[in-house]
Amino acid sequence: TLVPTADLVAAAVARGGAVAAVNVITLEHAEAICAAATVRGTPVILQISENAVRYHGNQLLPIAAATAAAGRLAAVPVALHLDHVTDDDLLAQAADAGFSSLMYDAGALPYRENVARTERVARIAHAAGLWVEAELGYVGGKPDAPASAHLAGVRTDPNEAADYIRRTGVDGLAVAVGSSHAMTGRTAILDLELIGRLRDRLPTPLVLHGSSGVPDDQLRAAARAGIRKVNVGTALNAAMTGSVRLTLGGDEKLVDPRKYLTPAREAMCDTVDRLLAVLP
Ligand code: G3H
Ligand code: ZN
Repeated sequence: TLVPTADLVAAAVARGGAVAAVNVITLEHAEAICAAATVRGTPVILQISENAVRYHGNQLLPIAAATAAAGRLAAVPVALHLDHVTDDDLLAQAADAGFSSLMYDAGALPYRENVARTERVARIAHAAGLWVEAELGYVGGKPDAPASAHLAGVRTDPNEAADYIRRTGVDGLAVAVGSSHAMTGRTAILDLELIGRLRDRLPTPLVLHGSSGVPDDQLRAAARAGIRKVNVGTALNAAMTGSVRLTLGGDEKLVDPRKYLTPAREAMCDTVDRLLAVLP
């Protein structure tokens, strides 16, 4: 069943927990995420990043339609989120393509310009009924890194974040608290004390990006401290690719993609299942 992202985030706020937001690149990702959520009976957010849209020939609609259909078929509430948007075209298409939220990424811009652009995007997105997330601080590891107005390692400042939210009107804030994108090892160390201070100071729910690199105990602690949306992508890709590598390595004659994508999808499903078990 498709539901608005705002509802799943509000539910996470109400219970003092976090909703998983998992990146979809292929249909197999969407199927795996929905299967895991259904088995656990846990709502989930399916998110498609601007980079994934680029991978699909810059076409949003086919992957969005397939992902929306997978979500609609799931026996649990599923929301659709458009992630790391920088492009006005995508913003314009989001609501019609079935998304109920988006993250606008102006992290590469100086503060004043970030505020001005994000305020404009939030106005347009709100008019289309979308829940809007933005980012403040340096969350490294993006494909076009080091594109950031912040130096590596700069954390989100609570006072600046309060000013940012007031000026932009965003509904959720991605914070820099020690995680980084695209980590293949789980060695990130989160600043749980800062998460607590951000939660106390800010009116909007907090979002953790780059959660693949965060150990289970810290993910749970981060949710208890105030993270309400946990973004995971790389962990699924590592599971998928590891599985494919194993299957192909064992059989040189194999040509049917279903033979290696079936175990790969199961590996992604297991990864999501473990994530959902960890989040309160
Ligand atoms: O927005 C997506 C997430 O931040 C994914 O990060 O691929 O490092 O798990 P990750
Ligand atoms: Zn991210």
